[in-house]
Amino acid sequence: MQLERISEGVVRLSHTVDKMSSATTSTMLVMSDQHFDSKQCDRKSLKKHLDQALEADCPIIFLGDWFDAMQGRNDRRAAKSSIKASYLNSYFDDIVDETVEFLEPYAKNIAIWAWGNHESSVFRNNETRLITRAIELLRLRSGSTIYEMPYRGWILYRYLRPDGKTFCQALKIAYTHGDGGNAPVTRGAIKSARRAVMYPDADLFLSGHIHSQLEMPIPRFRISERGREYQDEQVHVQLPTYITLNKHDGWEVEKGFGPPNAGGLWVDICLNGDASNARLYADVRRAR
Ligand SMILES: [Fe+2]
Repeated sequence: MQLERISEGVVRLSHTVDKMSSATTSTMLVMSDQHFDSKQCDRKSLKKHLDQALEADCPIIFLGDWFDAMQGRNDRRAAKSSIKASYLNSYFDDIVDETVEFLEPYAKNIAIWAWGNHESSVFRNNETRLITRAIELLRLRSGSTIYEMPYRGWILYRYLRPDGKTFCQALKIAYTHGDGGNAPVTRGAIKSARRAVMYPDADLFLSGHIHSQLEMPIPRFRISERGREYQDEQVHVQLPTYITLNKHDGWEVEKGFGPPNAGGLWVDICLNGDASNARLYADVRRAR
């Protein structure tokens, strides 16, 4: 796997293979909303999925809210009962240090680490960039080259021949950490329909934030430069979370939150069509 930055919000991930066929598949582990430092983070599942990605040597992608980071002095959401005893010393440094300790074994496989609203909120209120700090420390400890990415961006995924030429067009993956309320009934379908209009070039759209899993493939009529009609699908995927909700009281209960969809996603990048008309598509499976 090679990674290169094209601009602030665009990276290209290239995977070299000897030949391509319908059996050619490569897999990424995509996760969002881990809320690692929260008491409610399911670290057991988080570790299990990261171990599986390491075992399979898959690129790992984080799409925001790795940190929960709501217990800072300036945060109105802070609650004394929610802070871990191990964070009572220097809160933001402690959660970064614990993150680095936890992620060091996986650092070489973490390809992309994007910001979420919990990290941008800490930046606004406390003037520190938690993800930047964690990536720097991981780089010092393990020599990893994790690409820090903004809240919204693009990942171009392509297959290369051994001579460096491409097999077919890259799969264009748009992502955002996510926005708005948690959409308990539509589960992101309305946002996805809006994004379909705003991002006509995306083949796959990934987003997190609302802690609901949804896959919505939108079929489209297309036409090539040469006038060849074809159809394709733009696939919208809402990511699950690693935060659990088992409480009987508190803010989430009073807001009527239900249990979230738990885990991450395996995204398989596969090939469709023959040599003259090859296209990449993405298949999504739950990491449970
Ligand atoms: Fe979020």
